[in-house]
Amino acid sequence: MDILRGAEAIAAQVREWRRHLHAHPELGMETEATAVFVEKILKEIGISNVRRCGGTGVVAVIEGRPGGGCVGLRADMDALPVNERNDLPYKSVNAGAAHVCGHDVHTACLLGAAQLLYNLRSEFQGTVKLIFQPGEEGAGGAEKMIADGVLQNPEMQAIFALHVWPDLPVGTVGFRRGAILASAQAIEIRVKGKQGHAAHPHRCVDPILITGHVICALQSIVAREMAPLDTGVLTLGKITGGTAGNIIPEEVVIEGTIRTLSKNVNKQIVEAAERIVEGTAAMLRGSGSFKAFPGLPPVVNDDALFDMMQESFRRNFGEERVRTLPEPSMGGEDFALYLEHVPGAHFRLGVGQEGRDNFPLHSPDFIADDGGISYGVAGLTALALDALA
Ligand code: NI
Repeated sequence: MDILRGAEAIAAQVREWRRHLHAHPELGMETEATAVFVEKILKEIGISNVRRCGGTGVVAVIEGRPGGGCVGLRADMDALPVNERNDLPYKSVNAGAAHVCGHDVHTACLLGAAQLLYNLRSEFQGTVKLIFQPGEEGAGGAEKMIADGVLQNPEMQAIFALHVWPDLPVGTVGFRRGAILASAQAIEIRVKGKQGHAAHPHRCVDPILITGHVICALQSIVAREMAPLDTGVLTLGKITGGTAGNIIPEEVVIEGTIRTLSKNVNKQIVEAAERIVEGTAAMLRGSGSFKAFPGLPPVVNDDALFDMMQESFRRNFGEERVRTLPEPSMGGEDFALYLEHVPGAHFRLGVGQEGRDNFPLHSPDFIADDGGISYGVAGLTALALDALA
């Protein structure tokens, strides 16, 4: 069966689903209407094994012939708190919410793949698990679905997901071996001194001076401690301290973020930052504490599944439709949390229009051109079938 032709045959329907979702965006874990819509379409397709997971998440299982393993396909469903600035016929009708990260396209593509895989259920052995996830944009959706058992009944041997990409033209897909998205971890530093009069510094411990040293010393981690070919970012984006120019304050609080492409580098930066904050503050008579909040690991494609995906896309789409991305994105994705338990791979779907400057993801002007939506549907379908074969 020609998977791409099958996807093209239902593309008009998939586009209609996508445009309905686009017009009715919902935020975070509050994706009830979206979940109800997804359940309705799955039932219309004929899939009866559909359950809720993590509140507004939906999990559906398509049984092929008996035996074989289980492969997961995951789509995120949530929108962003943005007022859309486009004048599309299917523009968001919900003020303060818009699908400017393309999750409407992801959900529609997975519904399309559900339709194709259901039609093909007598032709493959094993099980496909469809995961419709809320709360990707910082609301902990993957974590909540994992806590509610999305990884069990049945367990998956591989998992795949896609993300729209405005820098790739419609009718193409893109991927990359190894890391494709970065880790994202929030940090907080507290520098404690001793408060007093600005005129009598010798009777105080100045946390502002210490903070200056801490900031500079932290930059030596990326410059001098990390291997030159490793990738890492340590950004301090917010500093709070002091109340008046004639007072040496008690404490300064610094907030920041760490981004890396490997867990080891992440660990290295965290350990070094802790040592530098504590050591620098102690050296200057103060005290410092460093806290790294639980974050997202990087999205790293499994090598064997990447090889399979590369071969599958070239065979199904033709060489000219498949692009190798020159570099990963330093953005984060909670798909990484599934990859802590199940090997998987992530690819990008072209939604950019050629010959124009496409607005980036999360911009109020972002438009995902759905002309290439059949490549998303076919890509997910092909990955499930090839991983089960
Ligand atoms: Ni996104």
